[in-house]
Parts: sequence; structure tokens; C-alpha cells
Amino acid sequence: MITPAFDAWVRDELVRVEQALSRWVPAEAPAGLGEAMRYGVLDGGKRLRPLLVRAACEAVAGDLAAALRAAVAVELIHAYSLVHDDMPCMDNDVLRRGKPTVHVQFGEAGAMLAGDAMQALAFEVLTPEDLPDEVMAPQLQARLCGLLARAAGHAGMAGGQAIDLAATGKPLDEACLRDMHRRKTGALLQASVLMGAATGPCDPACWSALSDFGAALGLAFQIVDDILDVTQASDKLGKTAGKDLHANKPTYVTVLGLPEARRQATALHQQALQALARGQLADAGHLRLLADMVVDRDS
Ligand code: IPE
Ligand code: IPE
Ligand code: MG
Ligand code: MG
Ligand code: MG
Repeated sequence: MITPAFDAWVRDELVRVEQALSRWVPAEAPAGLGEAMRYGVLDGGKRLRPLLVRAACEAVAGDLAAALRAAVAVELIHAYSLVHDDMPCMDNDVLRRGKPTVHVQFGEAGAMLAGDAMQALAFEVLTPEDLPDEVMAPQLQARLCGLLARAAGHAGMAGGQAIDLAATGKPLDEACLRDMHRRKTGALLQASVLMGAATGPCDPACWSALSDFGAALGLAFQIVDDILDVTQASDKLGKTAGKDLHANKPTYVTVLGLPEARRQATALHQQALQALARGQLADAGHLRLLADMVVDRDS
């Protein structure tokens, strides 16, 4: 159950993440690039991935300063994926986070370059030049970069997006659909949890529990995204509702139907909570409540 204390934690964390994003995403990049980057990542979004990073860091009593960098890096990769996902060559969307999409505002080349630069910036944030090694150990920097790169690249988000485009207008069986969702969305949510966990002590059993938690939650997240596409209005979502059906995308709703999609989201929520319990973490309360938020959300 969401409590006032959890609400207050979320509010504080969102302020912290927003300030860090604003500090690290440059306004003064050449030829309007900084403006497009800031437009694409600031002032919008639920910031669920940063919250997962921070909560996982807490769960292992990790380094909160390193987790703030990880939170910003994951959000930059996510925001870049949205900028490209909305482009005419992909989902061709004009509304995102309640605003015109980046390519509508800055042109297609502007959106492509803003996404490219956001992706690179994520890894700059994880490898600070201005901090002594003892503040953020090079081994931790490398580990965070590796986790994020693998979740964002061919085996993760970019690979899933490639399957998504190749599958548009085609029938997809449940196993392929699950694989696509795990890659295009699940991988980055799972990486958020693991990057938070990497900032502190986490034995192999705990790592495996958090990895399973992140995987179940990540898949649940995209199933709920598919459900909201057909059950919510555009103004609530801040993006165009009904797009999947219109674009002929295979989703959990089109392939399995709304009741089964809901059933699977609920089952994955339970799986996630069971995995978390297995981790026997001292302070997993915020991770548990974030899992509830992922499945119960209405936008
Ligand atoms: C939308 O993600 C795209 C998916 C990966 C399903 P979010 O629902 O987290 O979008 P924001 O960050 O809140 O805008
Ligand atoms: C996007 O999935 C996943 C990404 C990697 C960005 P969708 O195409 O369903 O996301 P929305 O519905 O446009 O946010
Ligand atoms: Mg898409
Ligand atoms: Mg889309
Ligand atoms: Mg969607």
C-alpha cells in the first residue's frame, strides 16, 4: 500500500533527479542541440527508472551519489529511446510527455542527433572526469557502463525495438512477444535495479533475486503500457492513446486479449515480489512499493 512516507520519498527523489538532470544536460551544445536534448529529457516523465536505481541502492545500503549518476544515466538512455521511438521512421508519434515530440519541435535530424547525444551523455555521466577515483571507483564506473550498455544495445532495448518494427503488421506468438517486450523495455528496467544494486555490497544470491525482480517487473511494465494504450485517454497518458491498434502492432492486448494481459501483469507482479523476498534485503520497502506502482499505474 502506498503510504504518505513513500509519497514523500518519491517527491524528494524526483526533485533530486530533476536537479541532477538539469545540471548535467548541457544547454550550450552547438547549433541548438542542447536545447533539443533538454526538451527531450527535462520536465516530464514518471522517472520510474531513476526511482528504481535509487531504491535498489537503498536496499543494499549502497553509494547514493553513484546511484544518482546511474539514475540520470538510465533516464538519459530511456529518454533517447523515446525520442527515436517517436520519429516518423519508427512509431511516428506527435505527442510525448504532454508536449509535441522532439522531431516535431526540432526536425528529424535534430531529434536523431539529440537522441545520439543523450546516449553518449549517459556514459559521460557514469565516467566523471572531475572526481577523484576514491569518490567513484573506476571499477564501479566500468560496471555501471557495462550494465547500461548491455541493456540499451542489440541484446536489449535497440534489439527489441528492431523486433518491434519487423513485427509490425505481422502475427507474433506469445513467446516472441514476450521476448520482444523483455528486450525493448524490460532490459532497461532490470538494469535500473541492478545498477542501483551495483553501488553497494550484494552477494550472488541477492544479485540473482534482484535480477529476477527486475526482469519480472520490466515485462509487467510493458504489458501495462500495452493495456494503457487501449484503456486510457491521450491527455492522461501524455502520448497518443490507441496507437498500437492503429499502427497494427502486436501487443499483449492484441495477441492475448485484455483480460489475459491483465492476468499476466498481476502474475508478474507477484513473481517480482517473491523474487524480492528471496533477496532478504534489509531495506526493500521502496522497491516493493515501486513494483506496486508499476502495475497499478494509470499513466
Ligand atoms: C514509455 O515509458 C515507453 C516504454 C518503454 C513503455 P514510460 O511510461 O516510463 O514513459 P515516461 O518516462 O513516464 O514518459
Ligand atoms: C517503446 O515501446 C519502447 C521503447 C524502447 C521506447 P512503445 O512504442 O510501446 O512506447 P510508447 O507507447 O510509444 O511510449
Ligand atoms: Mg515503439
Ligand atoms: Mg511508441
Ligand atoms: Mg506503448
